[in-house]
Amino acid sequence: MAPAKSQRMIFFYSFLFFLVVSLAGFVSPGMPDERKGVHAKLVADYIHSVIEAGRTFYSKQVVERLGKAISLRATENWVEDNTLPLPAQFLIASSKISNSTGVGMNYSLMSLWPLNKKNGPKTDFEKSGLRAVVDDPGKPFTWVVQRKGLWYFQAIYPDLAVTQSCVSCHNSHPQSRKRDYKIGDVMGGIVINIALGRFNPAQKEDGFLVPPENVADFVHAVIGSDRRVYSRDVVDRLGQKNIVRATENWMDNDTLPLPAQFLTNASKLTDKYNLGLGFRLISLWPINKKNRVRNKFEQMGLESVSIHPIRPYISQVKVGKVLYFKAVYPDLAVEPTCVNCHNKHPKSAKKDFELRDVMGGVVVSFPLKGW
Ligand code: HEC
Ligand code: HEC
Repeated sequence: MAPAKSQRMIFFYSFLFFLVVSLAGFVSPGMPDERKGVHAKLVADYIHSVIEAGRTFYSKQVVERLGKAISLRATENWVEDNTLPLPAQFLIASSKISNSTGVGMNYSLMSLWPLNKKNGPKTDFEKSGLRAVVDDPGKPFTWVVQRKGLWYFQAIYPDLAVTQSCVSCHNSHPQSRKRDYKIGDVMGGIVINIALGRFNPAQKEDGFLVPPENVADFVHAVIGSDRRVYSRDVVDRLGQKNIVRATENWMDNDTLPLPAQFLTNASKLTDKYNLGLGFRLISLWPINKKNRVRNKFEQMGLESVSIHPIRPYISQVKVGKVLYFKAVYPDLAVEPTCVNCHNKHPKSAKKDFELRDVMGGVVVSFPLKGW
């Protein structure tokens, strides 16, 4: 009895072994590395969370707060009026910079009833997508389109009338074609376009994967363009005109937050989306110790982008049990104020920054689930 049983067991285990080996052999040739990536829908969620965080921080902590505190208004003709750009104009200016970087992702603010004709839908897809988020604001509308042989993943997120000022201004604007907006209404949408390449269209929408280095580029493009618009069109311009300055204690002083504080606060606001996406500003000569490098990856990243600012420094890093994709992008002294303020600051460890220098870096990180 005993030998027969063990023979059966040996047969069973060899069969199991054979099955596993042949299944593995069968499956693995069909699973090349190109299957690895981040789902396009999640990528759009990342991008949207960063756009929305910048929009919220700018609307609440710059426009609303300074409107109340020092009667600094946001107006359509902000250049002539020496005022703040409207939140929509801030987003549109930022998207122009981001879209011109050529990373393979672009975004825009649109509406079926635009005050500015340029913000109307350009295609039938965009029109029906905007209609869909008006009818069901609960979730973004996503689909895949082909243009000139290339496939694009598009997502539209509703843009809501969050305050009475959205409603009042749009309802009374001379160019408006809709005058019955109420608080909570969908006024338009943020349209995000992600280039997928020559993908197999038979794949289902959720199966579209984006390489993580591209994902980091997209996220960084939004952070970088918000940073640029805020420093150039808000901090620098209003500072030079002596209208309002940017100071560290902006809450108490009724001033503008510093560009670095804009980024840090926007980063905190993206946390509420629980997507695992993180970003922060770091430096080898930080004014604020919280912005110092925290690990070997960040140290190597800053050293690398100081010498090769063209290309971000990327790596996959395990934190606990989760694998993260991380990228460090150079943060350049793009305006004279960057250099002047840092060189003069009592807590700055470096006093000889020059225009165009790499002053630090932006770290972008997100989890690679299931890798
Ligand atoms: C003081 C007036 C004003 C306020 C307040 C305002 N907007 Fe606008 N909004 C505009 C103008 C002007 C444009 C067109 C900007 C341009 O030239 O592209 C615009 C553009 C838009 C667009 C793009 C489509 C279009 O109409 O051109 C959306 C969507 C939008 N706003 C939503 C909002 C929301 C949501 C709020 C509140 C959070 C808001 N707006 C607050 C004046 C305002
Ligand atoms: C008015 C002064 C001022 C201006 C203008 C300014 N910074 Fe800063 N910067 C600071 C302060 C203060 C901090 C620390 C903020 C904090 O508490 O995180 C900081 C933080 C930083 C950091 C993170 C490391 C550190 O030093 O803590 C970088 C990188 C940086 N700034 C780059 C820039 C660049 C690039 C510009 C121009 C686009 C700029 N800064 C404009 C004052 C300024």
